Amino acid sequence: MQARGPLMIEHRLIERMISLIKDALVQIETTHKADPFFVDTAVDFLRLYADRTHHGKEEDIVFRDLSKRPLSAQEGRIMKELIEEHIFGRQTTKALAQANTRYRNGDESALADIASRLQTLVEFYPKHIEKEDNIFFPASGSYFTDEEDQAMLAEFWEFDRKMIHEKYKSVVEGLETRR
Ligand SMILES: [Fe+2]
Ligand SMILES: [Fe+2]
Repeated sequence: MQARGPLMIEHRLIERMISLIKDALVQIETTHKADPFFVDTAVDFLRLYADRTHHGKEEDIVFRDLSKRPLSAQEGRIMKELIEEHIFGRQTTKALAQANTRYRNGDESALADIASRLQTLVEFYPKHIEKEDNIFFPASGSYFTDEEDQAMLAEFWEFDRKMIHEKYKSVVEGLETRR
């Protein structure tokens, strides 16, 4: 498998979450209520999976190695855009989590914020993924030999292996601070 394989497989799961978020938006529109537990789960997915695990591999491994290559002006520009989009995704997820806390605390005005952040994510992620799958990954693949590509893939597995430990360490630490 090429290194871009696992990233594209991860994109498919992110798309499935985006589809669930679309359903949640329809539910908010029809019932004028949000499900804070669903929003919590979506936030956890976006933070731990889409951002830390997925964008983490892109930025810390693929983009890190690409930044040492003589990228064309266009590829350099797209990589910069992708990094900026990751920051935008992170900020939107943070704002969604904050709106969910306000909503849970009885602030009805937070409902519109939850809906608008979810809508932003629904519009943002498919475009970001398409840019990577169809433009950036095929173009940037040519900068690596098969051996270099396989070295990145091996680094991916190591990166993923650490994630479950990082996740549950943070769960325990979070609970400990509430003692
Ligand atoms: Fe990305
Ligand atoms: Fe991606």
